[in-house]
Order: sequence, then C-alpha cells, then structure tokens
Amino acid sequence: MKCNKQINPFVQASSQSTPPKGEQGGGCGVYILGIESSCDDTSAAVLRDGFLLSNVTASQAVHEAYGGVVPELASRAHQQNIVPVVDAALKQAGIEREQLSAIAFTRGPGLMGSLLVGVSFAKGLAASLGIPMIDVNHLHGHVLAHFIKEQGARGEGQETKCEEQGAECKEQGAECKEQGAECKEQGAECKEQGARSKEQENTKGFKQSSCPLPLAPCPSFPFLCLLVSGGNSQIVLVKSYKEMEIIGQTIDDAAGEAIDKCSKVMGLGYPGGPIIDKLARQGNPDAFSFAKPNIAGYDYSFSGLKTSFLYSLRDWLKEDPDFIEHHKEDLAASLEKTIVDILMKKLRLAAKDLKIKQVAVAGGVSANTGLRNAFHDYAKRYGWQIFIPRFSYTTDNAAMIAIAGYFKYLDHDFCPMSAPAYSRVSTEA
Ligand code: KG4
Repeated sequence: MKCNKQINPFVQASSQSTPPKGEQGGGCGVYILGIESSCDDTSAAVLRDGFLLSNVTASQAVHEAYGGVVPELASRAHQQNIVPVVDAALKQAGIEREQLSAIAFTRGPGLMGSLLVGVSFAKGLAASLGIPMIDVNHLHGHVLAHFIKEQGARGEGQETKCEEQGAECKEQGAECKEQGAECKEQGAECKEQGARSKEQENTKGFKQSSCPLPLAPCPSFPFLCLLVSGGNSQIVLVKSYKEMEIIGQTIDDAAGEAIDKCSKVMGLGYPGGPIIDKLARQGNPDAFSFAKPNIAGYDYSFSGLKTSFLYSLRDWLKEDPDFIEHHKEDLAASLEKTIVDILMKKLRLAAKDLKIKQVAVAGGVSANTGLRNAFHDYAKRYGWQIFIPRFSYTTDNAAMIAIAGYFKYLDHDFCPMSAPAYSRVSTEA
C-alpha cells in the first residue's frame, strides 16, 4: 500500500497565532523540533535558526516481506520509535527539550494511523513545554528541503565546486570524493578540515546525517520543483515559502509507484526504486522500449507504461521462462530511461513556457541516478540552474518538516491544539 499524498496539498488554511515562547520572530536561537511520521519512517530533527543540528530516522523493515507499507504495522512501529527517535535527535543536537522554541510536525497527507502518532506526540510535548505547534504539509516539506542549511557550511555565493558523478567536492580546502554522487552518506568518504564524516549509526541503530559538507545553494523564487515520490508526480511552481501551485500532476499512478509495481512484477524486492536504480547502472537503457503517454499540458500518466511493461514481460516470458533473470539489468535500465524521459519532457515544457531556469527535484524518486543525471544534462543543454537534494533529504525525513516549520515560525503561523491530522488534502483545504 502507498501513502496517499497525491491530491493537491499546496493550499493550507492559516491557523491561529499563539505567541511563541523564547525568542519571537526568528533571529538567533530559534530551536525547532521537526517530527515526521506520515508513512513508514519515524523521524525527528532539530534546527537552530534554520541550520540543521540533528536528523534522526528509524525506518521500518517490517514492510519488506509484504511488498508495500502495511498501515497498521507502520503505526505500531511509529509508537515504538517516536520517543527514542526524538530523544536521540535532541541529544545529537546537544540541547534540552526546554530550549525548544516550537514543534513542527507533519499534519498530512499520509497514512492516518501513522500521522496520528506524530501529531499526538507533538501535541503532548508542546503542551507540556508550553510552546507553539506548527503544522506542516508533508509535500511542502519535500519542496522546502532545498533550504536546509548545515552548520559550518559555506554561505551562499561563496566559491564551492561540487560536481556529481565521480567529481570532487571542495570546500575551504577540504576534499570530498565519492562515486557517482554529491557528498553523501552510505560508505562515501567526506573529509572536511581533516575530519572524516559518514552517515553514522548511533547505539540505537538510527541513521543520523552528520556529513558537514554543504548543500547546494538555495533556489530563489519563483522556481519549478519536480516532486516525485511513491504517491506523487507533480510539477510545482514555487512562488514563495508558502505559495506553491501545482501546474502538472499524474492523472493515475505516480512515478515511484510505477517503478515499485514493475519491480514487483519482476519479482524484485520492495521498495523497487533503489533496486531498479542499482540494476539499471549495469544495463542498456535502449534495450527495450515501453509505451509513453500522450497527455495534454504538464500532466503525467504512468499506468499505460506499467501495463505495457507487464504485457511485454508476459510475452517474453512465454518464449523464455528465465527472461527476467537473463535481462533484468536491461529491463531496469530501459524502464528507468522511459520514466525519466516522461518526467523530464513535461518539466522542460513547463520551464520553457514559464521562462524559468531554476529547477529543483524532490521526493523519494529524486534519489534515482538516471533522473539526477538527466537534471545535469538538461542544465547543460538548457542553461538551467538545478537543485538536487542530498540523499538524506530525498526520502521522508524530519529535517524538511523542521525547515518548513521554521519559515512558518518566522511568520508566527502556528496551529491550535485542536488541529486534526489529515490523510488527504483537496485544493480547498
Ligand atoms: O518520498 P518517498 O520516500 O515516500 C513516499 O512516497 O511516501 O518516496 C518513496 C518512493 C518509492 O516509490 C521508492 O521506490 C522511490 O521513492 N525511490 C526510488 C529510489 N529511491 C527511492 N526510485 C528510483 N530510484 C531510487 N534510487
């Protein structure tokens, strides 16, 4: 089962304003605790004045056996994880909970049972500390992840060279080399000021992002963001931190959903995205061709591709029962290429029509190597300035909720204790 985050989420009702405890209106010493629990990741993060101090995530392996997220199991796991995850985030940030200025939490969209755990926890903690709560739309969080700053990172405009694909990232004399991606975690070596930093595991086994290297410079408004995840494929025109307009979206399946389903048809594991990505690196993207949709405007459709993949595979398997085993790399590479082509074609159309050169990508599928490569390719071809999130900010994480909450904090845009979680949002919500 997918988290249902598909309907236009980008209009939020402004809630009541409660005076914040501690510093008002931003500036120095605003500590925001972010809590994310919309699907199958329990995550907590602390920001100080928009700078990341900690980002701790407990993922739920329990769903792998079912080939998708089982909502009931997800909410139970959130209940087990929420206290230790928040505790670890505060400890890693080096602050006491009494120092918090506000608590930002994912109010929706997502799985209701999962959301309720985070929302209830945020309410209880905020009430006990006497600090305001900030409700965050999960999808706003994904888009605003591009604005997370890191301690010790360079300011905007400072000379930093950071090229993906085997290139070197240099900052203040430091060097970071990695295969095929920007400075990231997972076995990569990040050296800065003589120190080595990796994705670390704390004693409880939660992932903590602590690579001190900087994010790419922030986009400026207006920019376009391709938001691609298990439940969404949208082109968002981002006019400000609050004003986001969906100008195109899938009329059926999301890109991540299509990848996951095709992966399932091939008998590969769940989630399919990372598996397909890995296999695709060794395959020929032109080996097979699958149906591409013909949809007007900036909208997407992936259900035809999914069906075409399924039927083609069925025919090939009749001739060779081991077809998948013999061709899995080529199948993955061709599927990935088809999806990336579909996504990029509409994005390019929107960028051209709107004359926007700043283009970002966000959501779980933005971890995909082929998609990242396509962004670099389009940047060269069309003069785009591109914004690609670090891997730790592609999938669900609380740092993005905390940064979205930080911007609302600066506007004194708080939510009342009575605010319920929502699993879906309509354009009017
Ligand atoms: O944003 P996200 O973490 O969660 C929700 O949709 O709630 O996105 C998850 C999606 C899944 O469909 C997963 O297969 C896909 O992101 N994904 C990838 C990659 N990593 C995750 N898809 C393609 N390539 C990847 N490397």
